[in-house]
Amino acid sequence: MKKVERDLSLDFLRVTEAAAIAAAKTMGKGDRKHSDHVAVEAMREVLDTVPMRGKIVIGEGERDEAPMLYIGEEVGGKAFSEEERANFPEVDIAVDPLEGTNLCALGANNAISVIAASEKGGLLNAPDIYMDKIVVGPSSRGSIDIEAPVKDNLKNIARRLGRDIEDLTVIVLDRPRHAKLIQEIREAGARIRLISDGDLSAGISAAVAGTNIHALMGIGGAPEGVLTAAAIKCLNGEMQAKFVLDPEKLGVDKSKIPPIEKVMERLESMGINNPNKIYDTNDLAPGRKIIFVATGVTDGALLRGVRFFGTGKRTHSLVMTTENKIIRFVDTVYVEGGADAVIRF
Ligand code: FBP
Repeated sequence: MKKVERDLSLDFLRVTEAAAIAAAKTMGKGDRKHSDHVAVEAMREVLDTVPMRGKIVIGEGERDEAPMLYIGEEVGGKAFSEEERANFPEVDIAVDPLEGTNLCALGANNAISVIAASEKGGLLNAPDIYMDKIVVGPSSRGSIDIEAPVKDNLKNIARRLGRDIEDLTVIVLDRPRHAKLIQEIREAGARIRLISDGDLSAGISAAVAGTNIHALMGIGGAPEGVLTAAAIKCLNGEMQAKFVLDPEKLGVDKSKIPPIEKVMERLESMGINNPNKIYDTNDLAPGRKIIFVATGVTDGALLRGVRFFGTGKRTHSLVMTTENKIIRFVDTVYVEGGADAVIRF
């Protein structure tokens, strides 16, 4: 008889909900490290109750710098017997327990907690370096080229969306390194939304109609790039990306980033032999079965933040899989106030 595989997406929902609740309790306290720490702890604890043999491929860093959720760490199934574990699926896991640590610390919009999973080998193992990215939604798929001039990309996206460039909004991280990009977008005529942090949730917004975001452009973290690709694959959008190795392009003090030889070594050890490769959605998230779950920590364009009230708390999440093409927006109420607790619609 064919073995029925359990859909892990709702297990992962418990994971991001727990991390988001823990982080949201620290909202506005001004301590981004603490917010991240509690999110990591909460995520780690719930991950171990998921029936899988999971391995972190994108996480909180290397083993020596991250006590939990480090790259290579085995997670999941700890609450089960060895015999049960042997039958669980092997799963690669990418996490960002708190995407937008500053956003949470300041109580600003768009902090989220995120997990993506796939069968073994289904998510690119990317080091924590920078990556140039362009992300669009399903209607603009096939119209972008990360190597092309900004104005050409905008012209093609506008054509696909049946509008003028002036009616496009591009979301960009507000960083000095983006001065030229911002100037080029302005010269092409499109509108810009500058954000202080959080290019992962911004990338997801670009692939969802109705958010009034039509593209994400610019340089952000590579781990966030892989997570974005997992979401974009579920949403039928398109992403292109390439690693940024030249410190000049980052506009940062060279002493603040690892020397290029170290980065090359790290890339090679992760199986990346061509660091100049242009990655598309499928290169970043090649998995056949991708699961992506995000829960809002603070209010955002797509997800509401965690709400606490006398008799409980409420979370808002996005749950997606490539396998069944179901996109769920999940509104969860944790009732804590006893039998008489009032549940509001
Ligand atoms: P954290 O959640 O780790 O603070 O990252 C936030 C973020 O804004 C990401 O969304 C983005 O990819 C990256 O930082 C950009 O890095 P930098 O702040 O160094 O420009």
